[in-house]
Amino acid sequence: MKKIAAVILSLIFMFSMSACSSQDMESQNVVSISMTNAESSTENTEQSENDILHESTDSFENNHILIAYFTRWGNTNYPDDIDASVSASIVDNENIRYGTTEYIANMIAEEVNGDLYRIETIKPYTDNFEKLRNVNHNEMEQNFLPELKENDIDIAKYDTVFIGYPVWATDVPQAVISFMTKYDLSGKTVIPFCTHDGYGAGGSYQTIAEKSHAAVSLDGIAIESSYVSDAKNTVGDWLTAIGISDFDERNETAIQILVGDTILNGILYDTALAEEIKEYFPLTISMVGYGGREYYGGVDFYPENLEDGQRTFENGDITYCESHHNMAIFYNQTDNPDLSVDVIPIGHITSDLSVFDGLGSRADITFSLVE
Ligand SMILES: Cc1cc2nc3c(=O)[nH]c(=O)nc-3n(C[C@H](O)[C@H](O)[C@H](O)COP(=O)(O)O)c2cc1C
Repeated sequence: MKKIAAVILSLIFMFSMSACSSQDMESQNVVSISMTNAESSTENTEQSENDILHESTDSFENNHILIAYFTRWGNTNYPDDIDASVSASIVDNENIRYGTTEYIANMIAEEVNGDLYRIETIKPYTDNFEKLRNVNHNEMEQNFLPELKENDIDIAKYDTVFIGYPVWATDVPQAVISFMTKYDLSGKTVIPFCTHDGYGAGGSYQTIAEKSHAAVSLDGIAIESSYVSDAKNTVGDWLTAIGISDFDERNETAIQILVGDTILNGILYDTALAEEIKEYFPLTISMVGYGGREYYGGVDFYPENLEDGQRTFENGDITYCESHHNMAIFYNQTDNPDLSVDVIPIGHITSDLSVFDGLGSRADITFSLVE
C-alpha cells in the first residue's frame, strides 16, 4: 500500500517537475559560506571516495558526529558539459558544484563540526529524470539494495549519525537503505535530513528510524530544493532545537509548541523581546487560522522591549505584533505573502509544519520551555 501511494505521489511530482525545477535553480542566489570539506569533496568529481573521506576526517580527528548523505551529484553519469543552472540537482557556488543535499550536509558539518561522507553507489545512475524515476521504482519494488563503493569509514567511532538524501518517490533512495544495512547504526542517535521539490519528507523519516535500528531518532528537517541556498539559519535553528549545536554559543532557547496532540520543536531568539515573552511560558494562546498561512491569537501582556517589525515571514516563524497585540505562527507562504501590519519574529518552529494544514479554524496552542 505504501509503495502504491509512493508511486502515485511521484507521478504527481513528475508532472509538476518541469514547471518548478530549472527556473528555480536558475534564479537561485547561492550564498557564499565557508565550506572547506565540500570544496575538497566536489572540486574534482574523479576524486575517489576514500580521498574524500580522508580529507574530511583529517580536519576533525576527534569527531563523534558523522554526516552521511546521498545526492545525485557524484552518483550520476552527467555529461562533462552539464549546465548547472538548468539542472535540478546541482548547486553552483563560486564555480564549485554541490548536490542539493550535499549543500545542506556541508552546512550541518560546519555547524556541528562533523565528518562528511558521501554515500556512493558502484554503478552510477542515469542523468535522465524519467529513466531514473523508473530505475528507482524498480529498485523499490524489488527491495534492491545497490552496492556501495568501499571505503575505510570507522562507523564505531560515531555516536551521532546524520543521514541526508533527496526524497525519491516520497521516500529514501535505496542507496540510503544500502548504507543503513551495511553499517551498524544500532545504539546510535540518528538524525534524518532531506531535500525535495515541494512534496516534503513523505515516509522517509519512518524508513530511516526503522531501517537504521537507531537507539534514538531525532526530528528531521526537510528543505525544498529551491531554498537550499538560503537555508543556513533554518538549519542552525533546527540543530539548536534538537539539541545538537551549542546553545551557549547561539544563545537561543529550545522550546516546544503543543498543537493538539502534536509536540513541535522550536527555538526562541536571543533578543530582549523574546526573553521578555519567555517569562510568560508556559503560555497557552487561543489561536485562529487565517488565510491558510497563519494562526494568531491575542495575549494579555504588553511587552516593553519592542523592535522594528517586518511585513514578510518565513514558514515556521513565531511572531509578536504590537498593533494587534497578538502572537502568530506562520506556516505557509501563500500567494498573499505580504502582511498588512508589522510583525516581530521572536522564534521559529523547526519541526514539520503539516499539523497546521489539517487544524480547525481555532486551536489552543501552548508554548513552553524544554525541561
Ligand atoms: C527519481 C526522483 C524522484 C523524486 N521524487 C520526489 C518526490 O517524491 N517528492 C519531491 O518533493 N521531490 C522528489 N524528487 C526531487 C528531489 O528530491 C529534489 O530535487 C532533491 O532536492 C534533489 O537532491 P539532490 O540534488 O541532492 O539529489 C525526486 C527526484 C528524483 C530524481
